[in-house]
Amino acid sequence: MDNNKVLIFDTTLRDGEQAPGATMNEKEKLEIAFALERLGVDIIEAGFPVSSKGDFDSVKNVAKHVKNSIVCGLARSIIKDIDAVIEAVKPAKHKRIHIFLATSKIHLEHKFKKSEDEVLAMAIAAVQYARKHMDNIEFSPEDASRTEKAFLYRVLEAVIDAGATTVNIPDTVGYSTPLEYGAVIAGIRGHVPNIHKAVISTHCHDDLGLAVANSLAGVQNGARQVECTINGIGERAGNASMEEIVMALRTRRDFFGLTTNINAREFYRVSRMVSKATGFIVPPNKAIVGANAFRHESGIHQDGILKEKRTYEIMNPEDVGVPSGEGLVLGKHSGRHAFKDRLKRLGFNLDESAVDAAFARFKDLADKKKAIYDEDLMAIVEDEERPARATLMLTDLVYTSGSKVKPQVKVTLTYKGKKIVQESTGDGPVDACYKAIEAVTKLKVRLLDYGIHSVTQGEDALGEVTVKAEVEGKNVIGRAASTDIIEASAKAYINAINKAIQR
Ligand code: KIV
Ligand code: ZN
Repeated sequence: MDNNKVLIFDTTLRDGEQAPGATMNEKEKLEIAFALERLGVDIIEAGFPVSSKGDFDSVKNVAKHVKNSIVCGLARSIIKDIDAVIEAVKPAKHKRIHIFLATSKIHLEHKFKKSEDEVLAMAIAAVQYARKHMDNIEFSPEDASRTEKAFLYRVLEAVIDAGATTVNIPDTVGYSTPLEYGAVIAGIRGHVPNIHKAVISTHCHDDLGLAVANSLAGVQNGARQVECTINGIGERAGNASMEEIVMALRTRRDFFGLTTNINAREFYRVSRMVSKATGFIVPPNKAIVGANAFRHESGIHQDGILKEKRTYEIMNPEDVGVPSGEGLVLGKHSGRHAFKDRLKRLGFNLDESAVDAAFARFKDLADKKKAIYDEDLMAIVEDEERPARATLMLTDLVYTSGSKVKPQVKVTLTYKGKKIVQESTGDGPVDACYKAIEAVTKLKVRLLDYGIHSVTQGEDALGEVTVKAEVEGKNVIGRAASTDIIEASAKAYINAINKAIQR
């Protein structure tokens, strides 16, 4: 293996999905897995198969379809977990099992009530069992950064002897600091005699906001795999963010001297895809993929940028797939050919009927909005509800509202092929809309969360609405964009309901 190459292990679909409220459905997970494969991710951790039938099926689905990346499943050091992973990843062209077991004193005493020797025996037995079925085995001593060093070294040596090919060192509770975590990795390299037979991996949580810094410190001390997620989502405060790790290694290659297999131009799109599937809006100041990451507000900075980009830009926005935002992308008079071409450049390969539907929305938008940017195109294409698949569609919406009038709406919906007109009032126009939609579908819908942000700047910017709703007991996320925020709100709700019906 090239010792200057850092392998990227993505756990968006496993640890990322453990973020409270981030549940994704099987279709969304497969779309994300394909996007990760396009991104050049070396290993995709697709889920925890024993945890539910849904997780098992979705790992199997990813294993069936992903061809270039290694597909991995997580297991505790328990036979039934290991069997579930072996079965779920069976269809994969390249596969891995990731086995974990806590090793810190605090976990041994309070969680397991087991001695070090008992835990060591469990770890060895688990790896030996998996080794009979698979070659590519990763072992994680959970809470490694708080584990007694001598015991950590003993466990690692034993699991490598038993057949582990990667040893992952989780900072499970995000407690470590860069110097300390780097020293843990250096200590492992210096004290585990057979460490040359395995790849050392980092897995850092962000409870103190140090996940990326800790991961990079690990890499500087010899780790050659980094576990991370898109947008840094994950359990509690999240995991190390892949886009930040990769761009740090790339932008500061002079310092790290390391490379990855990642095609960074895909970052912006994958980030939006994960945000859409989870309903987690990317904060504007998020490094690399946030809306403000490449925007310059101060006059001094703008002046500098115009004179020489490098004065205030350390990366090119295009290098991470952020639309340049310079001038008009397309206008009212642009044709279908130019539109399709532009979508292709943004990474969308739509079939002809989807291009038609998106083009119709683009024309509609061009009538309402002077300047249409790449961000607008991405929003309308990602939102496009395929008429063939949608059970519920908004055909028309009329509303009145104001500080002295009771909000009132009249919606025309197509539901299960039938056109239905429904009027309703509510606490506000959005509430009135949602009541009308519920009256038509007669489904039990509970709005859990509602968020809105503007896709670009300016008075006529598209407003993008994200809703989380419980529809007949299923938690779903809907998103839609429009220059009219009440229409965007209605469409986002409808999008969520369609998802629940299709599940
Ligand atoms: O944070 C952690 O310790 C984990 C393990 C399962 C690797 O996610
Ligand atoms: Zn974790």
